[in-house]
Amino acid sequence: DAGKSGYDHYMLKEIHEQPTAVRQCLSERVSGLERTIDVDSIADLEPPARVQFVACGTSYHAALYGTRLLRERGVTAQAFLASEYDADSVPVDEETLVVGVTQSGETADTMTALRDATSAGATTLAVTNVVGSSAARMCDHVVYVRAGPEIGVAATKTFVSQQIALALVACELTGTYDDDLVEALRALPDQLQAVLDESATRDVAEEYLESDAYFFIGRGYNAPVALEGALKMKEITYKHAEGFAAGELKHGPLALVTDRTPVFAIVTGGANPRKTVGNVKEVETRGAPVVAVTDGCVDVERYADHVLPVPESHPALTPILANVQLQLVSYWVANRLGRSIDKPRNLAKSVTVE
Ligand code: G6P
Repeated sequence: DAGKSGYDHYMLKEIHEQPTAVRQCLSERVSGLERTIDVDSIADLEPPARVQFVACGTSYHAALYGTRLLRERGVTAQAFLASEYDADSVPVDEETLVVGVTQSGETADTMTALRDATSAGATTLAVTNVVGSSAARMCDHVVYVRAGPEIGVAATKTFVSQQIALALVACELTGTYDDDLVEALRALPDQLQAVLDESATRDVAEEYLESDAYFFIGRGYNAPVALEGALKMKEITYKHAEGFAAGELKHGPLALVTDRTPVFAIVTGGANPRKTVGNVKEVETRGAPVVAVTDGCVDVERYADHVLPVPESHPALTPILANVQLQLVSYWVANRLGRSIDKPRNLAKSVTVE
């Protein structure tokens, strides 16, 4: 299924493939009846003393998400940009599990970090989309995210598949099978479909085409999604965009906020949504247009110029639904600006140099 199936771009097709990608990732790993999670390839892994993620680009944002999942389950976890792993002098030993999150399984920076981890005696796990890739072959364990081929240079469906795979890994590693999460995972494909079917992002994109910059804010599980929202916008529109943990806005970036810088606020149940509403008020009083991506957990609507709704889900999964709205906003902005969406200038799908 390598054609565009009637879509103008592979990226749009791949955004629409996300419900299927999630179903594939969950298949035979999440049992509906017994509400259990079973990822064969890591079933024999002892719970590690600490977990370190190494990754680049979008995969790094998935890794940040993975750290939160593990920490919530009592595991000491950190995410590192693979290109900084050696410079950070990170202590690694036999008690450490190093997880390389890499769509292609070929990214040079990530491969180097995994090699360093192996030399230091760590156990390694590749979370990758490509069967038989270098990372899959090199690591002690591999979990495939099963998104199917991704042609668009900007990662979309593989990001959600990585997040789901990391949720399964977190449950399997810690032996914590949270009924609510399992149920929410099973409902997620249909909820993603609903977001895709009802998304009003085209109009939002149209309204903010001429903006000076785009900012994205979110807290907790929504913080990596804010970073990813900005990365997507940069990659395919060539417009200035930045993502922040919502609380950081007032420590500098607020100086950039004007009536020509729309702020996309991801406000979903979980980590202190009321505090994010406080941050929204700060930008609203400075004249910035606000687009709230929300499940309606708190009243952010009254401060927003537009609302992009997402269904209620588990607090760890609503950010995944919110991310779809942000992918679509970037897509429609890029589309109206006539950008080379599937192959943005200067970028490559897989970067094999350090
Ligand atoms: C490139 C791609 C990005 C990707 C990054 C990491 O820069 O353009 O979309 O996130 O590499 O790739 P990986 O295959 O390791 O996930």
